[in-house]
Amino acid sequence: MAQAKIGIIGGSGLYKMEALKDVEELHIETPFGPPSDALILGSLEGTRVAFLARHGRNHHLLPSELPFRANIYAMKSLGVEYLISASAVGSLKAEVKPLDMVVPDQFIDRTKNRISTFFGDGIVAHIAFGDPVCLRLAQVLADGVNSLNLPDVTLHQGGTYVCMEGPAFSTKAESHLYRSWDATVIGMTNLPEAKLAREAEIAYATLALVTDYDCWHSDHDSVTVDMVIANLQRNAVNAQRVIQETVRRLSENPPTSDAHSALKYAILTPLD
Ligand code: ADE
Repeated sequence: MAQAKIGIIGGSGLYKMEALKDVEELHIETPFGPPSDALILGSLEGTRVAFLARHGRNHHLLPSELPFRANIYAMKSLGVEYLISASAVGSLKAEVKPLDMVVPDQFIDRTKNRISTFFGDGIVAHIAFGDPVCLRLAQVLADGVNSLNLPDVTLHQGGTYVCMEGPAFSTKAESHLYRSWDATVIGMTNLPEAKLAREAEIAYATLALVTDYDCWHSDHDSVTVDMVIANLQRNAVNAQRVIQETVRRLSENPPTSDAHSALKYAILTPLD
């Protein structure tokens, strides 16, 4: 039986959800090894949800070290159908300011060292990924943000998230290149998650929390970890309110999602 239909992955700064009640800590083994940390099962607004700290609760995993497949497998094994991913990002546009939120609808892959599929080893499948996030789930997330009127926060609905390998931040030449591509934000984690979630038929959407202007902005210093951390605290408080509101809306009115049947026409290898 499903233990949680809604999953939450918390990125840098969001290591726990304060409002969770009746909490259970689950150490889940998967065919891909253990997830980043224990999954925390708890009630939010009366709905069971599963929370995972992407980098571990003590932030000990680099983006390139994340067990993406184990994380998504563990969520699926609990029955998760909707996955909300909160992530710190740098801004690539002047109008997208630190503390703002972005709900991206596109990604560009600049990773080099990630396993982003459950397929292979004899089974060939190609999922449709033109729309890499579930647009209905993204709309619920955006509605959640808008309904809260958070002070100092502007929501940017839609936009492109560049997923880079890291762990070093970008060079200025790279940052200007991404701007010339009209990309909106840059981070190091969400694209492998989005691909694996789609293969697992889980609806996925990103709540991108802006911490800095990367290194392209002539009026702002280039991004440093200090700068990111300075904004993480406020972002984490805001993100928890948004997630709580989104969970409330999702449990009242769960949207249909094409992601839930993503494998219907995706598998090429005959399985019988
Ligand atoms: N996460 C937060 N800020 C970032 C940046 N500027 N580049 C990549 N990932 C980030």
